[in-house]
Parts: sequence; C-alpha cells; structure tokens
Amino acid sequence: MDWRKLVDSTEEGIFYVENFVIKYANTASEKITGFDAGEVKGRRCFEVLRTDLCQNACPMRIGVGLPWKEKGIFSLDRFNEEKFLDIKIEKIDKGWAIIFQDKTREVRLAKEVRGKFQFRDIITASPKMLEILRLIPRVAVSDSPVLIEGESGTGKELVASAIHQMSHRSKGPYVKINCASIPESLMESELFGYKKGAFTDARTDKKGVFAMAHGGTLLLDEIAELPLVLQAKLLRVLQEGEFMPLGATSPVKVDVRIIAATNKNLLTMIQDGKFREDLFFRMNVIYLKIPPLRERKEDIPLLVEHFVDLFNSIYGKQVEGVSDDVMNLLMEYDYPGNVRELRNIIESAFVLSAGKLITVEDLPSYLRGQEMERRKIEEALRKAKWKREQAAKLLGISRTTLWRKMRKYGIKV
Ligand SMILES: Nc1ncnc2c1ncn2[C@@H]1O[C@H](COP(=O)(O)OP(=O)(O)OP(=O)(O)O)[C@@H](O)[C@H]1O
Ligand SMILES: [Mg+2]
Repeated sequence: MDWRKLVDSTEEGIFYVENFVIKYANTASEKITGFDAGEVKGRRCFEVLRTDLCQNACPMRIGVGLPWKEKGIFSLDRFNEEKFLDIKIEKIDKGWAIIFQDKTREVRLAKEVRGKFQFRDIITASPKMLEILRLIPRVAVSDSPVLIEGESGTGKELVASAIHQMSHRSKGPYVKINCASIPESLMESELFGYKKGAFTDARTDKKGVFAMAHGGTLLLDEIAELPLVLQAKLLRVLQEGEFMPLGATSPVKVDVRIIAATNKNLLTMIQDGKFREDLFFRMNVIYLKIPPLRERKEDIPLLVEHFVDLFNSIYGKQVEGVSDDVMNLLMEYDYPGNVRELRNIIESAFVLSAGKLITVEDLPSYLRGQEMERRKIEEALRKAKWKREQAAKLLGISRTTLWRKMRKYGIKV
C-alpha cells in the first residue's frame, strides 16, 4: 500500500516536519494554506502556517504532553487571509505530524452568535478609529470604568468586547445588559438580583448581572436609559465595589469591570437633569468616542470587502465584490445606521445577487432611488451644458436644492 494515497484521502491538512522543516505535505494542506505541497517542502512550518502560537507558544518548542490539540487557532494563509484551524500535533519517528482542519466558517459563525470579537475583527483605516485601537491594549490592562460614546451601529459593542478579550478578565464572564430594553420595574432585579422571599413571586434567589459578571466585565449598554434611582445605586457599586440584592440584609462584594455605552450625549442629559453628574464623572475615567461612518468614509471599501468575505463564508457563496456603480453609491450614502446598516445592505444584496459581482439592482430600493436621482441630475447638467440655473429648471427644482444635491452626490462642475 502507498501511504501517500492514504494521507491524501483525508480532508485534514498534514505536514510532517523535522526540526521545523516541512518534509512532507498532503493534498488537503494545499487547499487550507494556499501553498502547493511541492513548494512548501524544505520551508519552515512557521513560515507557512503563520499561527498565533508559532512565535512563542509553539508546542514543538516548549515541550508539552502529546498529542497536543487546540481549537480555532488564528493563522494566515498564502493570500494573507485569516483562517481558523483546529490543530493536532503528534510525535512521529524523528519528527512531528501537524494535522490541521479549516474551521474558519464555524469560528466566524460562532463569533457572530456569541459576539466574541477581538481586536483584529475591528476593520478600519480611519485615523480616529486607529487611535482608539491603539488605546485598547492600554485600556484593557486597567480596571477603570470605560465610557464608549457613538451613534447606533458604530461598533461600540465590538470595542467593548475587544477590551474584555484583551484584558486579564478574558477568561472570566463577559455579560451584557441593555438598559433600554428592560422595563423600569424589572431593571433593579436584573442588575442586582433578589433574595428568596424579597417579594411574593421571589421563590428562589435570583442573580443579577453584577453577580453574573463577577471576575469579568459588565457592559451596560444604553446607559442613558437607566432611571435616576438606579443611577444612584450604580454609583455605589462603582465607589464601594458592593451592592444590595433586593431583600438582602448585607451587601455583596463584586469584582467587575464596567464598560458603559451610549448613543446619547451624556453632557446634554446632565444639563436636562436626566443623568447624574457624579455618576458621569465616575464612569468617564476612560472615554472613547467612536465616529459615525459618514465621518470615516475611507472605511467603507474595507468594510464592504470584509462583509463580502463574511457572508461568503456564512452563505457558502463566492461573490467577488461589488460593481463600481455600487461602490460609488455606497461611498455617497450617509448611513444613519452606521456600520450595522452597511452590513445589512451587503447581506440583503448577497441574498439577492446571482452573479459574481453585486450590482445596483441587488441594492435595497432606497439606495437605488438615490442612484436614479444622481443619474437624472448628471443628465440634466449635461443637457444644460453644465449651467446650473438651466439644469435646475430642467429638473423642476430650485438652484439651491440642485446645489445641495450636487454636493451630496459629489458632482462637480
Ligand atoms: N469596524 C468594524 N469592523 C467590522 N465590523 C464592524 C465594525 N463596526 C461595526 N461592525 C459591525 O456592525 C454591527 C454593529 O456594531 P455594534 O453592535 O458594535 O454597534 P453598536 O455601536 O453597539 O450599536 P447600537 O448602539 O445600535 O447597539 C455589528 O455586526 C458589528 O460586528
Ligand atoms: Mg450595541
């Protein structure tokens, strides 16, 4: 029997290495890494697999119990695309067998579901965002409260999750509560829990989110919606590190890192008497402001590419990207719903598109309407030989409206 045929018949990638040099690579490894089996022979495994572990925690270097196994390890393939691999390492003869499976799709899906995002999941080229990313590792090492402000869909949860993942609390719980989605009457017990018998329906003890997040991080989303009474109680937790469950006779100590997020301007709310100033100053130790997408349009092409990749792996499609017309449209649009809206636009186009490229026809009608309007304006301007007054007349709109729309669509004369 030819053992090569046997190892080529499996879906798992296999390298046989001696002293970190690849001596043999099977067929499945080509598909996962993007490198031909022939060309990797003689190269070093860490140049080919480029995983998170290669530089410091390589099991072949540090000597661990065998077989060694780990799930969802980050690696880069030949095209510098991120891949997540389940890897197993075994000692064979004078060398090692590295056996790996491509779990990129599963890991991406699971991240989506659990909201477990890391630093490198935040896609951006904007200087302001890059500044925030530079701060995250430093923010993560401290235990100070963090306040994240930004419009809806700008990525506040993504940043909060990255802070938790990078911190020493990453092995502890990461608990989220949305202060806007819980009725005021239930809010206190959701936050602090209650003791059995605290009220008629309290048949057993109930843990609140503070207790659940013990040893980890608590994200208080939409903190602006927290009623004033509870703001006072939250302040106490921040100051004393303890809280009172409903019906309890003594306070409970907790070790929780608090991250608060808001899409409202808290300073305005303080002026209106809706947010406690003392809580604001206690929360505002580290303040991160995430700019809206319309102020960082350079991120749009990167995000489009990122979401196309993401939905390719989720839907098992091979869409290559968007047409130039679509990209122009996406660059012009204002995104009241920010990155979440862009993501939804790409996802709905994905479901509709039949070809390799997403075209204007695949876009939601409100964006297509915009494209029609732009084309009409350009046509009128051309007919009027770029005289704005005349073009406005042709379109039946005022000169100032025309001027405003030209600015919106980036049409220059
Ligand atoms: N820079 C980014 N790179 C990749 N994905 C992003 C980025 N920013 C946001 N997203 C995605 O956009 C969506 C919205 O992000 P997120 O939930 O973090 O926003 P949010 O600010 O918490 O919104 P809301 O105020 O509505 O709760 C998520 O699917 C997130 O993964
Ligand atoms: Mg959110």
